[in-house]
Amino acid sequence: MNQPFLTLAQIDEVADTIRARSKRQPRIGMILGSGLGGLADSILGPDTIPYGDLPHWPVSTVFGHAGKLVIGSLENQPVLVMQGRVHFYEGISMSQVTLPVRVMQRLGVEILVVTNAAGAINPNFAPGDLMLITDHLNFVGMAGFNPLIGPNMQEFGPRFPDMSQAYDRALNNLARQAASETNTQLQEGVYVGLSGPSFETPADLRFLRMAGADAVGMSTVPEVTIARHGNTRVLGISGISNKANLDGDTITTHEEVLEAGALIVPKLEKILRSVLRAL
Ligand code: HPA
Repeated sequence: MNQPFLTLAQIDEVADTIRARSKRQPRIGMILGSGLGGLADSILGPDTIPYGDLPHWPVSTVFGHAGKLVIGSLENQPVLVMQGRVHFYEGISMSQVTLPVRVMQRLGVEILVVTNAAGAINPNFAPGDLMLITDHLNFVGMAGFNPLIGPNMQEFGPRFPDMSQAYDRALNNLARQAASETNTQLQEGVYVGLSGPSFETPADLRFLRMAGADAVGMSTVPEVTIARHGNTRVLGISGISNKANLDGDTITTHEEVLEAGALIVPKLEKILRSVLRAL
């Protein structure tokens, strides 16, 4: 865990590198999760920057994460899309995991659309479903790994930021409207963020169900925490890739997580395009 806390100067170094490579002023940032990177192929007039070209930027080691920034236009909105992300389980600090969100904030991004692949804990969800994230459980933060631990960067926000409406109600309503307009089923629920990388035991999952979780994954919560600290509005959508295995009778694999992406991407694209048009 080198560089536990990145400084404002380092964040600005990344932002300056991006400005030198793209003349666009992105308004919306998007993070595409496991198996969902295909959405970046729909971006018009793309300026593409491999993560490896950016100083301090964490490069994902996980298969299914392409590892590039795509800056361009989607439904006439200037967007900055992360095709792939890094996870805490890759062995980097929370400050590195969330660096991209800080950079987006310095670039003037107002809205973060965060997506992920998640396992269904709610028995009414099936692989291929989309779930609007209405709230989250920050188990990793509760265990002592909140990304805001460390010196507070007052330039972004206060020491003790409010998280009562982490997922923006107006954006949630736009997503619901988008789903009904495009005839796309959109489940809703609470996402619980764990560190991974091992999947959950059946006892873990029964516990998470009791705690009020509908879907489980290994990302998103740190990024949303940093987004809200800097007053960035958040829309979160999970792609349900598998049924979490509360009875221990089936196994979960990364391959099925990636395969479900093919079902999810077209639906996600419909909803996001419609939300972008409404913004
Ligand atoms: N558990 C945790 N993370 C996940 C899962 C899961 O079942 N599916 C996709 N990401």
